[in-house]
Amino acid sequence: MSLAAQPAARAAELRALLQHHAHRYYVLDAPEIPDADYDRLFAELQAIEAAHPALRTPDSPTQRVIGQVLDGLLPVVHARPMLSIRTETDTTAAGAQAFDARVRRELGLPDDAPPIAYCTELKFDGLAINLRYEDGVLVQASTRGDGQTGEDVTHNVRAIGQVPLRLFGWAPPVIEIRGEAYMRRDDFERLNERQREKGARTFINPRNTAAGAIRQLDSAGMADKRLSFFAYGLGEVQGWSGQPASHSATLEAIAAFGVPVCAERAVVQGAAGLVAFHERVAAERDRLPFDIDGVVYKVDALEMQQRLGFLTREPRWAVAHKYPAQEQTTRLDAIEVQVGRTGKLTPVARLAPVFVGGTTVSNATLHNLFELRRKGVREGDEVIVRRAGDVIPEVVGRIPAARPHYVPNFQMPRACPVCGSAVLRERGSVEHRCSGGLYCPAQRKQALLHFAGRRALDIEGLGEKLVDQLVDGELVRGLPDLYALDAARLSALDRMGEKSAANLVAMLERSKQTTLARFLYALGIRHVGESTARDLARHFGRMQRVMDASVEALQQVPDVGPVVAQSIQSFFAQPHNREVVEQLRAAGLGWPESDGLVDGSGDPSATQAALPLSGKTLVLTGTLPTLTREEAKALIEAAGGKVAGAVSKKTFAVIAGEEAGSKLEKARELGITVLDEEGLRGLLATDG
Ligand code: IVH
Repeated sequence: MSLAAQPAARAAELRALLQHHAHRYYVLDAPEIPDADYDRLFAELQAIEAAHPALRTPDSPTQRVIGQVLDGLLPVVHARPMLSIRTETDTTAAGAQAFDARVRRELGLPDDAPPIAYCTELKFDGLAINLRYEDGVLVQASTRGDGQTGEDVTHNVRAIGQVPLRLFGWAPPVIEIRGEAYMRRDDFERLNERQREKGARTFINPRNTAAGAIRQLDSAGMADKRLSFFAYGLGEVQGWSGQPASHSATLEAIAAFGVPVCAERAVVQGAAGLVAFHERVAAERDRLPFDIDGVVYKVDALEMQQRLGFLTREPRWAVAHKYPAQEQTTRLDAIEVQVGRTGKLTPVARLAPVFVGGTTVSNATLHNLFELRRKGVREGDEVIVRRAGDVIPEVVGRIPAARPHYVPNFQMPRACPVCGSAVLRERGSVEHRCSGGLYCPAQRKQALLHFAGRRALDIEGLGEKLVDQLVDGELVRGLPDLYALDAARLSALDRMGEKSAANLVAMLERSKQTTLARFLYALGIRHVGESTARDLARHFGRMQRVMDASVEALQQVPDVGPVVAQSIQSFFAQPHNREVVEQLRAAGLGWPESDGLVDGSGDPSATQAALPLSGKTLVLTGTLPTLTREEAKALIEAAGGKVAGAVSKKTFAVIAGEEAGSKLEKARELGITVLDEEGLRGLLATDG
């Protein structure tokens, strides 16, 4: 079909194609075509629309433009009020039981009537949005406002990739889909990471960020903020003869229209079902990729919902059952400085203990001096602490209040609080570092823990408490001292029985047989992670060659750039570090060595070429359906491939599972092949 002859038909076809692929990409996170192909289709549609402006329909993917600026947000009177949900603040099982009992009473059910079916959902922590579709096309998006009147935020909601501009298949003439616009935690962390790198203000939490972005007049504010959307109900509906009779079936229908509905939902029976859901989600809460502040229970049968009706603005058929909050205010007692393994100084807030996100928190990070200053916190302030998911607790801001007396602003110490060495900051960096290296006990402790770690020399039993005792008691000054420990000296330590002392000695003995890759990793060289260590070992084969390698030679190793090469070279340029290696060897540490892939050994590819993934670097992201990360890695390596931690142009393929994050995004940006587990198995099976 030629473009000139049938522009209208081709434009319609392109819109449908792009809509399909946008759904695969944004909603299902399972693209079928590379980004470049999507871009080509998009450009073709743009060209047709430019030539024939009449063909530019509001549901065209080209209309997700960013940069529309409004004078003010216009009010929108909701066709049906946007209700709120009654909140059950008793966070125990009794909260769920009370709701079920109330519903049964209000329905006049006898005690022996069968349990009621409920649809259980998550309570998303974002901003309620009403999406109005007419003849399947998104015509308006509005906020909840006071429930009667909200604000028109169509310009910003259009920029949310997950919100379809046209519904799939047949849609009722009028349908309003209601749900929550929110920001995933990883998208939020990435945004703040970028802000920190720029030295710009960080955002408080995902919810405020999402709500702030959506209510902005200029949709350019959406460009750097990736928002998501989950539908949870309907507003006005006209002309839907086949409208489902239950809430759960309504959600299915909404999902079939192409609007995201959270999979974490269930139809359960009675109070016991509610309690089980509440408990299950509580256990999973930290692992969810977004914040929730509770779960929601809804009577599933719409007919029962109608009988129950409303109490002022709240339906009697729904309740929100809360969880402990992920943000709390507490008093900042003191700001102290912690020194990490690489010498980085981190200001840490000592807090009046506070229950937040399900645990008691008494320390929280302030990241760095510059961020601390921007937040303007001082000792004695009331501060907001956030602990969500597995992110370490952080102070996100202060409650503005007059300080009763003068409190000096926090200063970074000029000398390391642990060893007294000079504290330095590289030009342009926001990080302060102790220059003491392994002279610094804090760095020494961290270095020992790293050395003993599971992925390094795997010395079981050498944990934080023991390392503290060993370093503080001056039994261990450097890594080699570990191998001079004997059971007699160990059992003299606090809480160390004879048996555990003997165990530790045995573990130390066992750790002496290692691999070059593990040993290189264990040394804790800055920027040398597990995979770089493995590359170095494979490339050079012998420790001496790694130690003697020039910056140029180091850069011959795949994925080693100038920064990493420099770091390795500087590490071994220090006589002290070479000595540590010598002493460890003298203590009996050993590993198999080879000729590696450099010099004299002939063509390295000859030995490797027979394997299907020889010379190829893959990246793993997300959770695979049946393989653990370790297993997938082992399979890839057995097939001659390598697993890298980051996606680059050199990456051969990205293997993505569920909850894949930024690496998947990066792969798409660079047009790298993305495969699932099955795809990986396919690769392993093919030759060459
Ligand atoms: S249903 C009739 N379901 O909670 C009830 N609301 O107080 C209408 N919210 O700001 C809302 N998750 O945006 C419903 N699964 C969920 C929800 C949910 C979050 C928010 C909603 C509104 C507030 C209601």
